[in-house]
Amino acid sequence: PGAAVRISVMGCGYLGAVHAAAMASLGHDVVGLDVDTAKVADLAAGRAPFFEPGLGELLAEGARSGQLHFSSDVAALTAAEVHFLCVGTPQRRGENSADLRHVDAAVAQLLPHLKPGDLVVGKSTVPVGTAERIAEQVRAVEPAATLVWNPEFLREGHAVADTLAPDRLVYGVPEGPAGERAVAVLNRVYGKAVAEGTPVVVTDLTTAQLVKVAANSFLATKISFINAMAELCEATGGDVVQLAEAIGYDARIGRRFLNAGLGFGGGCLPKDIRAFMARAGELGVDQALTFLREVDAINMRRRVRMVDLAREECGGSLAGRRVAVLGAAFKPDSDDVRDSPALSVAAQMSLQGADVVVTDPQAIANASAKWPDLVFAETVEETVRGAELVLLLTEWPEYVALDPARVRTLVRRPRVLDGRNALDAETWRAAGWSYRALGRR
Ligand code: UDX
Repeated sequence: PGAAVRISVMGCGYLGAVHAAAMASLGHDVVGLDVDTAKVADLAAGRAPFFEPGLGELLAEGARSGQLHFSSDVAALTAAEVHFLCVGTPQRRGENSADLRHVDAAVAQLLPHLKPGDLVVGKSTVPVGTAERIAEQVRAVEPAATLVWNPEFLREGHAVADTLAPDRLVYGVPEGPAGERAVAVLNRVYGKAVAEGTPVVVTDLTTAQLVKVAANSFLATKISFINAMAELCEATGGDVVQLAEAIGYDARIGRRFLNAGLGFGGGCLPKDIRAFMARAGELGVDQALTFLREVDAINMRRRVRMVDLAREECGGSLAGRRVAVLGAAFKPDSDDVRDSPALSVAAQMSLQGADVVVTDPQAIANASAKWPDLVFAETVEETVRGAELVLLLTEWPEYVALDPARVRTLVRRPRVLDGRNALDAETWRAAGWSYRALGRR
């Protein structure tokens, strides 16, 4: 710990930009690389190209200290000794498998610049087997460089804190001296967290890649489990919020990630479980993961159920109904709208003829770029004015804290559907609202 490491970070999306800024804040010399010149210009000027709490401050600090640089010229990485691969692995169009074109492009750019002793550190979420393939490529051009896998578990909205103080570090390294040296270098990179007692799991490349998809599959399964219980509650008159509380007290189960509602979205969980199933199929063990098909199906059913509830509340048809949607991001504290449950519900209601207006504190720009046919408003007031139905679809704190009595004066009919079980039902009912939520009486 203590000694600065010269680092390059390939890919400056949610993962790479935060990683680069966080590593510089630890005292390392960092260059972040991205093919998107507009993004590089923003980052170099100390501006966060997307909403992530705390990132702006870290970028400004990095620019001041002179330890954080950004470039779209790959030659800028030649000074670095540790190269992090942080590019995206989106779902392939029309298929479940991961699209590795950004990984392959980054590796192809990196290879000609590798020097003896360099460490290439994969952080992207990849189908198991990808790291072994990249290790071969690295070995072929520079036998004295090493490829390791070091998956990242950060959550959007908490990315800075998760990067600086992770729950655990996972190092997938080759056997022998090269692996031992790699562990020592990673311990220098993460010196602060290691000194603070962060658990480090040192394993092989294969296990390291699997850890990441296993963790995301488990989290997705937890959410879909509680949402399946919500379906049971809806059929029986039970209450899924109390059920989650009660089973969550069992420390073996735990209360976290048992929030029933619209289910999971975003750029990770949905595509990661699908890519994992696709990979299992290629490996001939698809049966091991067929349960993830159910996890995905339960998750997608919640969106349908939400639209059905909205239609029911509007007397059987959404046609011509003025509906207000609070939330567009896939979760609070993010401007990310990839696979956003909120937007898919809004779009479906709009397709069924509803007059939908959507608002979000951070995600309107991204949402309107992806969903040009939806109508967006900047303020809650504009969004709910004249509404016959209000839907809370992303639980931003400012929406949860809304005063139901005030909102009531703006709407045409005080009916609210809580898609995230986030509002206080009693308060809203006391203010004269008809309140309904997924999985509750
Ligand atoms: C996830 C993992 O948490 C993270 O470890 C991994 O590195 C990337 O994928 P992220 O996609 O940022 O992170 O969001 P997360 O906080 O996990 O939420 C995912 C989705 O699940 C959101 O749409 C959220 O609304 C939903 N969710 C989460 C629930 O519906 N219920 C819950 O109890 C928790």
